[in-house]
Formats: sequence, C-alpha cells, structure tokens
Amino acid sequence: VRIYLDNAATSWPKPEPVYQAVDRYQREVGAAAGRAGYRDAQKAQQVVDVARRAAARLFAAPDLAQIVWASNGTDALNLALHGLLGPADHVVTTVCEHNSVLRPLATLARDLDVQVSYVGCDASGSVDPDQIAQAINDRTRLVVVSHASNVTGTIQPIAEIAAHTQPRGIPLLVDAAQTAGLVPIDVIAMGIDLLAASGHKGLLGPLGTGLLYVGDAAKDRLRPVRQGGTGSLSEQPFQPDHYPDRLESGNLNVAGLAGLAAALDWLASPAGELGVQQEMAATERLFEQLQGVPGVSVYGPPPGAPRASVVSLAIDGYEPQEIAGILDASAEVQCRAGLHCAPRMHQALGTASQGGLVRLSPGWSTTPAEIDIAVELIRSLASSA
Ligand SMILES: Cc1ncc(COP(=O)(O)O)c(C=O)c1O
Repeated sequence: VRIYLDNAATSWPKPEPVYQAVDRYQREVGAAAGRAGYRDAQKAQQVVDVARRAAARLFAAPDLAQIVWASNGTDALNLALHGLLGPADHVVTTVCEHNSVLRPLATLARDLDVQVSYVGCDASGSVDPDQIAQAINDRTRLVVVSHASNVTGTIQPIAEIAAHTQPRGIPLLVDAAQTAGLVPIDVIAMGIDLLAASGHKGLLGPLGTGLLYVGDAAKDRLRPVRQGGTGSLSEQPFQPDHYPDRLESGNLNVAGLAGLAAALDWLASPAGELGVQQEMAATERLFEQLQGVPGVSVYGPPPGAPRASVVSLAIDGYEPQEIAGILDASAEVQCRAGLHCAPRMHQALGTASQGGLVRLSPGWSTTPAEIDIAVELIRSLASSA
C-alpha cells in the first residue's frame, strides 16, 4: 500500500465527505452557477455560496465578496500580481518564494520593467521583517511573502511584516499555499491585504480549486486580468467593478467547490481538528527521528519551532532523485525530490547545485507507523552509503 508523503503538492486522501459532495453535485445537480434561474441552477449557486461562506469564516474575512475563486494557488497569485503591478513599479519579495510568485514577477520585470527586490533568509529559512522594511522604497507597490516555505516549512512572521507595510499603505500579499487549513490565519488581525491559497492542499478540497482574499486596501487597485461572462451586468462592455464578479469570469468549478465546501466543513469539525493534530504530530515525529541520523541532513526550523508539514533532507552519497526513487521502489513511499519549484530557496540553502533535496510531507491521515517505515528506509540508506 502506498505511503503518501507528498501532501505539500496536493493532499491525499481527502476526507470521505469531500468525495461524496463532488459525486452528489456531479450526478444530481450538474448545472452552472450564477447564470440561470431554474432550481438546479440555484442549487449550484448555493454550493458556491456555501463554499464562499466557509472560506470567509476560515480566514475571518469580513465580507463574503472578498473571497474570489481561482483554479489553484498559482492562479490566485497571478490574479493578484498581474492585477496590481504596472510599468516600473517596485515589489519586495523573498528568496523563499515558489515559482508561482517568482515567474509572474520575472515576467513582469521583463515585460513591464517592474523592479523586484529579493530579501534573503537565514539558514533555517526565516525572513527578517526589518530587512523587508529596508527593501521598501518610494515606488514599492506591493510586498509578497509566502506564509511558509514549501521547502523548509519555515513559517514567516506575517504580522511583523504587516507592521511595516500597513503604515506605509503598501498592500501585503501572502502566499498561504502551505499553511491554509493547518495554521490559523486571521487576515485582519495579521494585517494581510491579499491572501492566495490552494484549495487542494491543506484545505483538503479537490484539485482545480484555489482562492484569493482581496481586502479593502487592494480592492479598487486590482485590475481584472481575465474578462468574460459573469452572469451579471451583461449589457456592459467591460468587467463589472464589484466583487467577486470583477475577478471571476467564466463558469466556476462548481464540482470542485462542492468538494471544497465539504472539506472546509470537515476541517471545522472535531474530526478535522484531530486530523490537523495528527498531521502536525506526524511531521514532528518525522523531523525528530531524522535529527542526528549520521549522514542525513535535515533542513528548516530547529526542533520545537513551528513548521508547516514538510521535512526536507539530504543523504550523503545520494542524489535527491535517487533517494526518492529508492523510497518508492522499496516501500511505495511517495515523496518529491528536486528543487520543488523554489530555485532561489535552494540557492539560499546551498542545495541547488546538488539537485535540491528530498521532501516528505505528511497529511491528516498519516500514521506514526507510516513515518517509521520512511525513517527506517532513510536510516538504512544513510548507513549503507
Ligand atoms: C509555497 C507555494 N506557493 C504556491 C504553490 C502553488 O499552488 P498550486 O499548486 O495550488 O498552484 C505551491 C504549491 O506547489 C506552494 O508550495
């Protein structure tokens, strides 16, 4: 049986109600949302509304319309980055970011002369808020930071960063791909103006779901980078100004949102709380057991420090891809090796030239026994190198 330790890419399995909700919507409703008035079309709209309400509640967004659906975390980040930045604007980001931030910014730099400052991190992957403040200048229009690195799991001090952006009136965009569903996020209390999240990782919804929270500070400046049908104000030649229609063009992934709504419901239940605890315990067990194994280097925050559910490592004498291949072949331990779409982070850690690291990412259903199998394999590899 497979031991799935690639939850940082997408979570699996999903809680049972998620499969049921997708199946039920697909078989029994199947209509588009926000367009027609017949009963099943209204049911589809209800699915979308229920999911939106649950997402707004999870992140303490004051208004439902501030939650915009996207097709994944990358899509949400693109909506924000391309929608906010214009010619010769300056943006501050960090070396810890995923390519879903780095590549849009590189493209904006190439095509619109957007200036990008990359703030570094320490050996544990932590970013210093004062360095973010120092990188801000008169032309800075946005600060974009990941809540947790998908390589090291290091959780960044978002509220402390917001303490530098808010007084200056610079929107703060947070990439919560690795924390949403796992680490509590309150957009107002933490000073987050825009929050991008995948629906299919820690939020436990199906692939093809994601969201962008758009707070008041950014909402009037954010241009819709996609235009099309919204089912509202159809006589107008241009995109409606109001949210969420301003950023939601075309038919929504209602099947995915049905699953996401069920997932958010499950996460808020006692079973969900237990699942999150189990995921954190599995991550801690993995990290603790790998610490100090001769020949194994474990990256990220020190023991006891908060981390997202990823543990990345290297084994002396092995290529990362080789390790992942052996883990899969010997016990169907499924994990990801390489640069994890975060090339600057691997440069910062000094692991880019060795082909990156091996990343194991537990989920809500990962058991201690599964962790022990993975650890034992890693130990025996390290001792035979
Ligand atoms: C930190 C980070 N940001 C963004 C993404 C992109 O998310 P998605 O796969 O939903 O597009 C990922 C996932 O791979 C990630 O780990």
